[in-house]
Amino acid sequence: MKNKNIILGIETSCDDTAAAVLKDGCKVLSNIVATQAELHADFGGIVPEVASRRHIELINLVIAQALKRANLDFKDLQAVGVTCGPGLIGSLLIGLASAKSISYSLNIPLIGVNHVISHIYANFIENPDIKRPFISLVASGGHTSIYILKENDEFEILGSTLDDAAGEVLDKIARFLKLGYPGGPAIEEISIKGNANTYKLPRPMLEKGLDFSFSGLKTAVIYMVRKDKSLLSKEKLPDLAASFQKAIIDVLVKKTLRAALRYEVLTIVLAGGVSSNSYLRSEMKKIAKFRGINVIYPSKEYCTDNAAMVACLAFNKLKKGQISKLDIDAYSQIYM
Ligand code: KG4
Ligand code: ZN
Repeated sequence: MKNKNIILGIETSCDDTAAAVLKDGCKVLSNIVATQAELHADFGGIVPEVASRRHIELINLVIAQALKRANLDFKDLQAVGVTCGPGLIGSLLIGLASAKSISYSLNIPLIGVNHVISHIYANFIENPDIKRPFISLVASGGHTSIYILKENDEFEILGSTLDDAAGEVLDKIARFLKLGYPGGPAIEEISIKGNANTYKLPRPMLEKGLDFSFSGLKTAVIYMVRKDKSLLSKEKLPDLAASFQKAIIDVLVKKTLRAALRYEVLTIVLAGGVSSNSYLRSEMKKIAKFRGINVIYPSKEYCTDNAAMVACLAFNKLKKGQISKLDIDAYSQIYM
């Protein structure tokens, strides 16, 4: 007799090999993430071919570890959820092949999920009762978008980046400033010692709509440093990093608030790797509070890529009967 509501989640969209076991959609029995950050650090960013080869080496070990931590066996699983996209095709295919094999051999449902939406669902792990409608900012290495999740659980994309994602710009500038990879946490750490009001940097499209554009800000920082190399000194670098981080976060916060006001919603939900940033969290809360808007975000372990969020969304889809066929494919770009 199978345990009820036990779901295995698998996530391999980028450079983390992750598996998690959840009960009832929000009780995390295990959450294993094997990060490849060190492997890619020398390159200053992710090398897709290296990432997929590493997923192959890790995937079975990570799934076995997730089951062991949960004190369960394959036969206890009711369903398997897996990220289908968007992401790196080679990486996605490894997770997808594993999930299909498990589904086929155990004769349990396979549920393909959208990675970006699963980032939003990470919030339901610790706050299963979040009231819809809400506005969600998803800011990660690959995506920066604002969504509305409606009362009927449908979602709509309200705005997106026209060029680089917020995390991507943080990673690129951190590499340029030789601060290491991933860039977001490195910039956050050095910014603590800096004064964010020291350098005037552009806030692209701040006053316009709900779309984002960060490439102009990236270029501005690069030009500034090329003109004045002393900005890389131990004394000035924290001020530059803090000013840069503030420029990005000002834009994220202002646009998310604009969406909440425009759609008259009282809850903002932060998601994706960048939402682990303490400055983003506190600024969003501070500004939203003035308007009586509540701000929710996941614990840091559920902000960056993980499989608990995949199992959480898969559980929701299973309840609605949204089961995938065995021939589902991986996809690199966003589609719903
Ligand atoms: O969600 P995620 O793990 O992967 C993607 O789906 O892309 O996000 C990774 C991104 C990276 O760009 C990383 O630099 C950024 O999230 N990040 C942060 C922080 N932690 C991770 N950005 C700002 N502050 C942080 N503390
Ligand atoms: Zn992600």
